[in-house]
Amino acid sequence: MRRTNSVRTGESTLIRKDIKSLSAYHVPDSSGMIKLDAMENPFKLPESLKVSWDACLSSVDINRYPDAEMAELRTKIAHHAGVNADQILLGNGSDEIIQMIIMAIDPGTCVVPSPTFVMYDLISRWFKRPVATVPLANDFSLNADQFLQVCGREKAEIAFLACPNNPTGNLWPEETIARIANGFDGLLVIDEAYGPFSERSHTHLVASNVLVLRTFSKLGWAGLRLGYVIGEAETIAHLNKVRMPYNINALTQAAASFLLDHFDLFEMQATEIKKERKRMSKALQTFNGVNTFPSQANFILMQVPDANALFDQLKTHGILIKNMHASGGLLSNCLRITIGSKDENDAVLAAMDDIINGVSA
Ligand SMILES: Cc1ncc(COP(=O)(O)O)c(C=O)c1O
Repeated sequence: MRRTNSVRTGESTLIRKDIKSLSAYHVPDSSGMIKLDAMENPFKLPESLKVSWDACLSSVDINRYPDAEMAELRTKIAHHAGVNADQILLGNGSDEIIQMIIMAIDPGTCVVPSPTFVMYDLISRWFKRPVATVPLANDFSLNADQFLQVCGREKAEIAFLACPNNPTGNLWPEETIARIANGFDGLLVIDEAYGPFSERSHTHLVASNVLVLRTFSKLGWAGLRLGYVIGEAETIAHLNKVRMPYNINALTQAAASFLLDHFDLFEMQATEIKKERKRMSKALQTFNGVNTFPSQANFILMQVPDANALFDQLKTHGILIKNMHASGGLLSNCLRITIGSKDENDAVLAAMDDIINGVSA
């Protein structure tokens, strides 16, 4: 249709109505606070690596476009993941890969558990893809038969399972995930964003309709924005057609390649975080009215008598966590707290002691 040249006045009319009704992804200001709201790794790069790190980054020719095929980095990541390089596609964070997958799959419903990671729903909406949800039980378990029934009823084209799930932190049994992978004839994306902190991976389930999604964000490289998806080579080749040229910038490519050579460091940090998770889970439970849920991720979900009040009080104590209360349902009065360094976690416990028991550190 031809557009007229008339000057548009008032509210922009060119933006889709459904986009206008969305809210932009909100990131709260965390300046000066202990930041435990976004599942970041608390550890900075050790001083001992700084000289070689500086040399690595300063050798990057930023006047040139990055390596478009990222052959070297893909090979390194494939080696790390135990698959072939042609089974790997890289994204600017796994968020970008979720977008690529949703773009590339035939129109049709996306099925997700509820609650789960919000971006599956949000990105589906951007592409006018309907979303159907399957409620988790009170203990956050997922009924595979019910999930498959909803997929069948909706003639779903795509489904996402975050394993472990965000924001609940639990990992559904392997048989639940395998049952869905085997019984669903659309595309299943198994999202292992929290895989480094959990007891198992699902790469053995990769098939023509099953992908495994991963990110380095939670393991310590959130600032680099790098994720990858593992699939059959043919699926990956097709997904690669909706990848923006040069989507992984030259500094990220160089940095990730460097960090992969020091991967044992990040695995040690993940082990430390898992230890702290155990300690925090036990310690948080001791506070009156606080119920923590089992977690296989680098965060803990806890239910408290008044989430809004505790969230605000922790903020007053200089601690930023994530308040899930507004989501309602199973997340009513729930707070999600990222596992920080030992000192950060101690600060949380001291603040909780002050708030709940009136004991100042
Ligand atoms: C389950 C899950 N998948 C994917 C992501 C996105 O990670 P990134 O885009 O940083 O790789 C997150 C981030 O919180 C997540 O919780």
